Amino acid sequence: MTTRTPCVVGLNLGHDGGAALITEHTTVAISEERINRTRYSPGWQAALLYCLHAAGLQLNDIDQVVVSGIGNEPPSWEETRLGHFGIRPDRTVAVDHHLSHAYTAYCLSPFEQATVLVVDGGGNSGDTETFYTATPKGIERIGSNAPTRRRTGGIGAAYEAVTNYLGWHEQEAGKTMALAAYGDPNAFPDPLFDLDGTHVHGRLHHTHARGIADLVARTGWQVGPPDTRGDQLRGADLAAYLQAQTEQILTALTEHVIATTGLSNLCFAGGVALNCVAADKLRRLPSVTGYFAPPAASDRGQALGCALYGWHRLTGELPRRPATNDYFGRAYSDAEIEQALKRDPRSGLVERRRAAFQWRRESDIAATAAQLLADGHLVGWFQGGSELGPRALGHRSILADPRTTDSSTALNSKVKRREPFRPFAPAILEEHADKWFDLGGATSPFMLLAPSVRPEKTGAIPAAIHVDGTARVQTVNPDHTPEFSGVIEQFHRITGVPVVLNTSYNQQEPIVETPAHALATFQASGLDAACIGNYLVERATLTP
Ligand SMILES: [Fe+2]
Repeated sequence: MTTRTPCVVGLNLGHDGGAALITEHTTVAISEERINRTRYSPGWQAALLYCLHAAGLQLNDIDQVVVSGIGNEPPSWEETRLGHFGIRPDRTVAVDHHLSHAYTAYCLSPFEQATVLVVDGGGNSGDTETFYTATPKGIERIGSNAPTRRRTGGIGAAYEAVTNYLGWHEQEAGKTMALAAYGDPNAFPDPLFDLDGTHVHGRLHHTHARGIADLVARTGWQVGPPDTRGDQLRGADLAAYLQAQTEQILTALTEHVIATTGLSNLCFAGGVALNCVAADKLRRLPSVTGYFAPPAASDRGQALGCALYGWHRLTGELPRRPATNDYFGRAYSDAEIEQALKRDPRSGLVERRRAAFQWRRESDIAATAAQLLADGHLVGWFQGGSELGPRALGHRSILADPRTTDSSTALNSKVKRREPFRPFAPAILEEHADKWFDLGGATSPFMLLAPSVRPEKTGAIPAAIHVDGTARVQTVNPDHTPEFSGVIEQFHRITGVPVVLNTSYNQQEPIVETPAHALATFQASGLDAACIGNYLVERATLTP
């Protein structure tokens, strides 16, 4: 008889669905969108099978399934549809949505004791802002927004309303944050939120365009018709006002909450924790001694939070798994990569445009990539397991030379086709980070802080700097991210700059997951090369 560790699965039944699986030694997690290729997709079925495959387990190996969702109540057994997978009700529990966020925030953090703050568009029971104490004994809910206040009065809902109004999906709040740098944060004098103790009272009473109608009624500012897509800078003052008000209310809330708990390490989760501009202000507050946000702070981390909760519930051990990286996806073998490159249908390759390519195995793929970057090429960089969160952190990235804005222009025109006001982010070797960015000794391994670039360095990396002089930087540690560090080290050796431009490996669709996705995106886009594992893929050269 073999002994095995418990196996716990977490499933997110809401938007940004997905699955996570943890055992004693394994953590695997992925969003459904990475597999079904539909952005923000609900669902968990394909993700669950992916996690089981990665862990070498079967459905009947699962000891505990934990589910979460949004809405008034956590999901019922009938809503889970787990019966179709042969999973019994007595192996399934539901967890509160915000508590799941709190588990990712604390269990992945380096802190023994912390205040956990969760802020998102809405969880269960009208939760939009909740806070907890977290110690090795457990995670205890201390307070929340007033339960009688409508969800639309929350911080996240206000951000969603403006983001929708500007023509974007509510999960694209990062676009609004980027646009804010172009506007006047003092465009309106009145506050958008009030704070009563730790209770936030937003002054919007609706989400979507009706929420903006509320704002206009209060301010008298004519912000124009809904959906200004194509002319987004018109919305810059609105975005700047929203961002400034969000920063102010989060600052006041954090100070109140920490004064209440008496624990000065702050773990921040929920979709609002992806607001790296606000996060950079919170972590500098005098009352905050340590700051952590999990890389999958939004609902993409729900499934993982569920699994962590389930482990605690099943084993009695509060899992402490401090995250040094966000690579919760599975790695692909050389055989699997070659299967895609040989256009073997078993790889799942769908060649939408059969651009001719050639490939070969490289002895030092990092050196090859670095030279291509230094020569001004756009390089797809696919290594190891994928990132769970929304940021590509060097495993599913597109890289470019940060020393010239020609790179960012080419990235947008040939591959990404993003709104032109959105910046691209730098990735820097951790040992050099403080010399280039005002990090104050902090690291930013998950690209969730936005410090200012040191004035003397701005001329060296113009492609990586936003209009306000900040950059959404990733600090890269060779011990935690060896392949990505290798490229930056080689680029540094060639150019004297320890920074590369880093954006997600995708083109108007979810980030690539498999080697076949990476090849298809290379073929359909204007990438100059792709490094998939140790394999270099280039455009085919014509031979006479
Ligand atoms: Fe959430």
